[in-house]
Amino acid sequence: QWDDSRASEIIAMHASLDGAALPVLHALQDEFGFIPDQAIPLVASALNLSKAEIHGIVTFYHDFRRTPPGRHVLKLCRAEACQSMNSSGLAIDFLSKLGISWGETTRDGTLTVEGVYCLGLCACSPSALFDGEPIGRLDMARLDAVVQQARD
Ligand code: FES
Repeated sequence: QWDDSRASEIIAMHASLDGAALPVLHALQDEFGFIPDQAIPLVASALNLSKAEIHGIVTFYHDFRRTPPGRHVLKLCRAEACQSMNSSGLAIDFLSKLGISWGETTRDGTLTVEGVYCLGLCACSPSALFDGEPIGRLDMARLDAVVQQARD
């Protein structure tokens, strides 16, 4: 749940850092899970930057979410080593099974699926993070188990 006054506290904690925009935005996303539109003017005025600059940063970096995530977040690796182990085909099938695209959340609000670029787990590719926990050697059975776990 977004809260302007809590957000202002977080912004103030990081505002004096060099290049504060990224640390501020990361701290906001860590706290709230996403960066809503209403955050942009708050961050801009605290850092003396334009709203367009902050908006540009939020939309440029894949890491920032613009809408609240589902109850669980699965980050599937889309980088080269995982791709060579068919991560792309697996992801396409998985997303179409869920009826969502990259970055979207299942209609029941259970699971958000995002892409990520190398988790340092190339040795057990294709790999992913489920709520921050690494999982490797993914196949459809493993992904189905993740969905099941998310729904339980
Ligand atoms: Fe996927 Fe490194 S390429 S973990």
